[in-house]
Amino acid sequence: MTEERYLTFALGKGRLANKTLELFEKIGITCEEMKDKNSRKLIFVNEELKLRFFLAKGPDVPTYVEYGAADIGVVGRDTVLEENRNVYEVLDLGFGKCRMCVCGPASARELLKHHERIRVASKYPNIAKDYFYNKKHQTVDIIKLNGSVELGPLVELADVIVDIVETGSTLRENGLEVLEEVCPLSARMIVNPVSMQMDAARIRSLVMRIREIRSGDDI
Ligand code: PRP
Repeated sequence: MTEERYLTFALGKGRLANKTLELFEKIGITCEEMKDKNSRKLIFVNEELKLRFFLAKGPDVPTYVEYGAADIGVVGRDTVLEENRNVYEVLDLGFGKCRMCVCGPASARELLKHHERIRVASKYPNIAKDYFYNKKHQTVDIIKLNGSVELGPLVELADVIVDIVETGSTLRENGLEVLEEVCPLSARMIVNPVSMQMDAARIRSLVMRIREIRSGDDI
């Protein structure tokens, strides 16, 4: 019997969305419409499985899920932590692995050690604040940037940055290094709390199927 209601997925645009679609294909969830690169459509539907997909800016994904505009979202753990929305985090998808770190020039190590009042630039002010205030009990000034955060210490806007480190090459090429690790990151599946109740069976089955192939692939 086919379900009445469509389950709606919000996927963070870019690499994560492509990886997510690859993962969904492995459990038989396909969306041919989404593969058409020339399409200007924003919402893609799989009529047969009663699924809808849309692509959104990463930080907007938890917003769509909290308000129930999407039942399920896929986004990096960095965004889940930064946005701190009322959503359930149900699954670590295992890809998009990287680390949130405090980085800077080697000379900044001393400033961190002595708990000095330093300037911290980040695209993730909430994560930076939580780390310095609640975990390290260090008072700092946080400066929000929107990208190319590594510039902060280079042009003396900030002493250190809190940013994502994947391969470490951006840091190396700019004479910076990891000074402290804040937390590990990877892609997460998040669910609207009401959807979790209303569509418990469908969502649980989806999570279980992904979990099975995920451990098999060791991604
Ligand atoms: C991210 C992150 C680092 C870089 C880390 O930036 O903010 O700058 O990637 O990757 P690496 O360790 O492999 O060098 P992104 O490319 O998303 O652009 P942004 O600087 O505009 O945030």
